[in-house]
Amino acid sequence: MRLKIIGSAAGGGFPQWNCNYRLSRSARAGALGIEPRTQSSLAASADGNGWVLFNASPDIRQQIAATPELQPASNGPLRSTPIRAVVLTNADVDHVAGLLSLRERQPFTVYATDEVLQVLEANPIFNVLDPSIVPRRVLPPGKETVIRDGENRETGIVIQGFAVPGKVALYLEDTSDPKADFSSEKGDTVGVRITNGNGPSAAFYIPGCARIDASLKARIADAACLLFDGTLYTDDEMVSAGVGQKTGARMGHISMSGEDGAIAGLADLAIGRRIFVHINNTNPVLDESSPEHATVRAAGWEIGRDGMEIEL
Ligand code: MLT
Ligand code: MN
Repeated sequence: MRLKIIGSAAGGGFPQWNCNYRLSRSARAGALGIEPRTQSSLAASADGNGWVLFNASPDIRQQIAATPELQPASNGPLRSTPIRAVVLTNADVDHVAGLLSLRERQPFTVYATDEVLQVLEANPIFNVLDPSIVPRRVLPPGKETVIRDGENRETGIVIQGFAVPGKVALYLEDTSDPKADFSSEKGDTVGVRITNGNGPSAAFYIPGCARIDASLKARIADAACLLFDGTLYTDDEMVSAGVGQKTGARMGHISMSGEDGAIAGLADLAIGRRIFVHINNTNPVLDESSPEHATVRAAGWEIGRDGMEIEL
């Protein structure tokens, strides 16, 4: 199985269009060791021909342009694509807006939890993907699901979606509810176990996660590769950078560092490769010369980059 990180940044990308924080400025200026990144998406293939996307980011057009594997074969039909299916891990803008760019009466399938499919259903703009050409399929939490293409053929990719602590998409938040839970496990945000259906080697893709609990640890304990929420280095990073008021906890994102962070929380697991993805434009690890970057690398983690490949 081949995996390709086609977008390693969080919502907004890096640099973000309106951001003048030092990291976005450096990336814009082409500084060495501060690489631009597009928004959150992963591609997986069992046979090297057909690909399943995990999330469809607003940058999908640019991501396809940068990824020959996702382009029509030069000797293929007049209209064609190697993209067979899109699996959504939540309904965030950075994970669903790219669906709108995949309109053009091209068959493929969309898989998501019932909660996320209801969000698509409630937004008629997503009907630009005619459901009779692009069927929407429920991803039942906890169940193994064979991913099939728009013509119902198996793609060779088999996944299991499972709820992780998280929240509804920002645009669906009830801001008047003082008891709102930003780390519930209701199925608004899922992680996925990805395999090629034969053999034990599994990758886990969890681009959004509010905290690590015992059930999540047990689930990912034997991962050959973990791609995990690397939004922030510290919980109050956006506040101290002066770009916003929200902490990671408020956004439903765990931090890399700290006692409750991902590095400490997963340190005792025997995971193969561990890679941070969905990296926010305020995260100091984006600067390869930073002490935070060195700390993360020394802890055995890789920092996701666009185009990074994993072979399992
Ligand atoms: C998130 O990951 O928290 C969201 O993508 C934020 C957003 O919608 O901008
Ligand atoms: Mn996001």
